[in-house]
Amino acid sequence: MHILLTGAAGFIGRHVLAQLLDRGHEVRALDSLRPDVHRSGAAWTTPRGVEAWVGDMRDAAFVAKAVDGVDAVIHLAAKVGLGVDIGDMPDYASSNDVGTAELLAAMARADVSRLTLASSMVVYGEGFGRCPEHGSVRPGPRLESALAAGDFEPPCPICARPLAVGLVDEETSFDPRNAYATSKAAQEFYAANWARATGGSAAMMRYHNVYGPGMPRDTPYAGVASIFTSALRRGEAPRVFEDGRQRRDFVHVRDVAAATVRACERPVEGVRAYNVGSGTPRTVGDMAHALARALDGPAPIVTGQYRLGDVRHITADSSRLRRELGWTPAVGFADGMTELAALSGEEPARPRTALA
Ligand SMILES: NC(=O)c1ccc[n+]([C@@H]2O[C@H](COP(=O)([O-])OP(=O)(O)OC[C@H]3O[C@@H](n4cnc5c(N)ncnc54)[C@H](O)[C@@H]3O)[C@@H](O)[C@H]2O)c1
Ligand SMILES: [Zn+2]
Repeated sequence: MHILLTGAAGFIGRHVLAQLLDRGHEVRALDSLRPDVHRSGAAWTTPRGVEAWVGDMRDAAFVAKAVDGVDAVIHLAAKVGLGVDIGDMPDYASSNDVGTAELLAAMARADVSRLTLASSMVVYGEGFGRCPEHGSVRPGPRLESALAAGDFEPPCPICARPLAVGLVDEETSFDPRNAYATSKAAQEFYAANWARATGGSAAMMRYHNVYGPGMPRDTPYAGVASIFTSALRRGEAPRVFEDGRQRRDFVHVRDVAAATVRACERPVEGVRAYNVGSGTPRTVGDMAHALARALDGPAPIVTGQYRLGDVRHITADSSRLRRELGWTPAVGFADGMTELAALSGEEPARPRTALA
């Protein structure tokens, strides 16, 4: 197929591009090379035979040309980050939502009917837990007094009993808690509007915590792994906040890329969302131990420190992706962490722009 891949110079985009080429697709690789993501002035070297399109999704004329003649679009381009600075709201809304709206309008005009969209687990907010009496409940923000007392598990908001793990599935309602999350949720809504109006197919890929070669160091997803490896490389023990039992779903970037390519190759009927997680929740403490082992460093120290606003657990039920698209993750946690630890000594903070 002839595929337009946006955000192709980014962390996930480079892996998706490599896999599309391996599978024989013809790729038009688009990226604005945002200066806050890519070293300024660095050239973008795409693999042989790939058309590199440097420009911004908000530029209607550019996007109209970029979609012309393609069979499908994989849309990864976005401003990624913590989304907590209110001053950044216009940039999230513009880069992510105006950019997506321009893309969808151009696809409708050019009659391109297949979209695979990079969404995120952040659309779900805090996820949920299970109360023995009240079933699935959404825990509210944790109180500072509880955190200070070392009481890290969020209680049932109705009866304050401890909660068991609840895996978020794709029907869990949205609860975006910051500007980045809101912009990802809005991308999904725009894409759903487009699909219904045009009869197009839109797969929303809700990635969980993606890690692996080329990962940036300052996103909400990556931060902690790079903080741990930096400490270990200085010969220091990684310092784990709270009690280290915060659960996440760490999924390897090659597995995420494979899921994305698969969704693009097998278009869904109408609109369909997929959680993209490894399916095996791990704790932040597990990650610290795995990296310490891989780098032969000191054992992690659990500090009991906390940050107000941190989410305690976010874990996905990714069974729909396995069931409907036949995807299974290939990279295990221990191997993935060993690879990450080995690469942490080599990669500069933003090794992004060279693609060759
Ligand atoms: N990394 C993760 O763990 C993770 C998790 C969930 C969702 N996602 C989503 O996956 C996608 C890719 O993320 P990533 O981690 O590779 O981020 P990234 O920052 O490495 O890549 C994004 C790329 O998009 C480009 N870009 C941004 N705005 C653009 C615009 N308006 N026009 C053209 N290009 C633009 C940037 O220059 C960058 O190269 C994003 O949509 C992100 O929201 C990532
Ligand atoms: Zn309860």
